[in-house]
Amino acid sequence: MTTPRPETLAKLTPVLTKRWLSPDAWRIGTYEQLDGYAALRKALKAHPDDLIQLIKDSGLRGRGGAGFPTGLKWGFIPQGDGKPHYLVVNADEGEPGTCKDLPLMTHDPHALVEGVIIASYAIRANRAYIYIRGEAVHAARRLRNAVQEAYDKGYLGRNILHSGYDLELVVHSGAGAYICGEETALLDSLEGFRGQPRLRPPFPATHGLYASPTVVNNVGTIASVPPIVLGGADWWKTMGTEKSSGPMIYSLSGRVANPGQYECSMGVTLRELLELAGGMQPGHNLRFWTPGGSSTPLLAAEHLDVPLDFEGVAAAGSILGTTATQIFSDQDCPVYATYRWLEFYHHESCGKCTPCREGNYWMVRVYRRILAGQGTHEDLDTLLDTCDNILGRSFCGLGDGATSSVTSSLKYFKQDYLDYIEGRTAPKLSDKQLVGAH
Ligand SMILES: Cc1cc2nc3c(=O)[nH]c(=O)nc-3n(C[C@H](O)[C@H](O)[C@H](O)COP(=O)(O)O)c2cc1C
Ligand code: SF4
Repeated sequence: MTTPRPETLAKLTPVLTKRWLSPDAWRIGTYEQLDGYAALRKALKAHPDDLIQLIKDSGLRGRGGAGFPTGLKWGFIPQGDGKPHYLVVNADEGEPGTCKDLPLMTHDPHALVEGVIIASYAIRANRAYIYIRGEAVHAARRLRNAVQEAYDKGYLGRNILHSGYDLELVVHSGAGAYICGEETALLDSLEGFRGQPRLRPPFPATHGLYASPTVVNNVGTIASVPPIVLGGADWWKTMGTEKSSGPMIYSLSGRVANPGQYECSMGVTLRELLELAGGMQPGHNLRFWTPGGSSTPLLAAEHLDVPLDFEGVAAAGSILGTTATQIFSDQDCPVYATYRWLEFYHHESCGKCTPCREGNYWMVRVYRRILAGQGTHEDLDTLLDTCDNILGRSFCGLGDGATSSVTSSLKYFKQDYLDYIEGRTAPKLSDKQLVGAH
């Protein structure tokens, strides 16, 4: 295990994670001692439009994967329309490898609760929801406890801190489907329907929850709001890069010595993150990795110095996504890893559109054939052709995301596929696992 140099340690910028190691960090008393709810007091004295402008000025971009500018999204909510407005926090976190929102809610749930109150005040919502993944029982328990503590202290409910502003906050547990992280499927699920994406337009900003103006934001996005209110837009922009401002929680998993969450200024590189995490596990050399979860095209060892911000990763041919860096070594097989992800997408496909429903079904079968040593050269063309018919032709991003590891692994690691097809690599799947593969 390597020890990080002081200049690399200086890359750590704990803002959202700064309270995580404090004793009882999830309790309101600890939170209040460490700046907690100071931003809310400040925000309630400001005009809601000024708060929206502050978030615009900070350059904050959504932490849920797409990086949409948050202030702009809030500004889309029509004002004076006489309709109820809603804030919905997307706490589904179902993307394989992604693990930043659940630890945040487990260790520091009040950071999210305070962000929800400020954001709701800014968009003039009197009701907010946190839609949390059903399996995340521990995080949900902490969150519900925090919400109750906030009610008891007068931070939620009627006439918050005597400001005249009212907000009800509901924590809703989903049933555990990856598609319910897609914002419109999430809204359908919250309304009690089967979670499937909605046709857009109309967009949630005008026709969201119960056909009313709604902002859907990720946990990390909303938890970034209190520090911005307290520290100001200029301070926020001292971290990160010109178009990707602020800190970001990078989650490292896989063949790394110390997996976990590392909060750094946007634009840090994987080389630096690996140094912070003590390097690769002994005996392992980096071979491939995802910059932002399984829906983002794989990168290889040659990309160690790519700046991990929205622009840098795009220029390298991938997507920053959820900054979930899954690290694989020379002892891992890119064909098998891609197959396992495809099994996930096939299982999680909601079935609404044909390219994703049928395409993932076919691709899983082709992979099983290849991994059982029964693949053909033609199978590689079939995979690319199928991806071509899914990408950009699916109803939502799940289908597009499913193709990422297929096309990128074929781009960087075609030889690994050929080794299975031409018999140089021993089959990983048995004939029994081949059911339906032909
Ligand atoms: C299949 C799929 C799953 C998604 N899962 C999540 C999720 O778990 N959490 C999340 O915040 N965004 C998820 N998103 C992105 C959301 O649709 C949406 O862009 C995001 O919640 C917006 O918040 P932000 O602007 O704060 O990033 C998912 C998108 C797709 C297509
Ligand atoms: S792309 Fe997949 S998950 Fe999205 S609507 Fe189509 S079938 Fe459903």
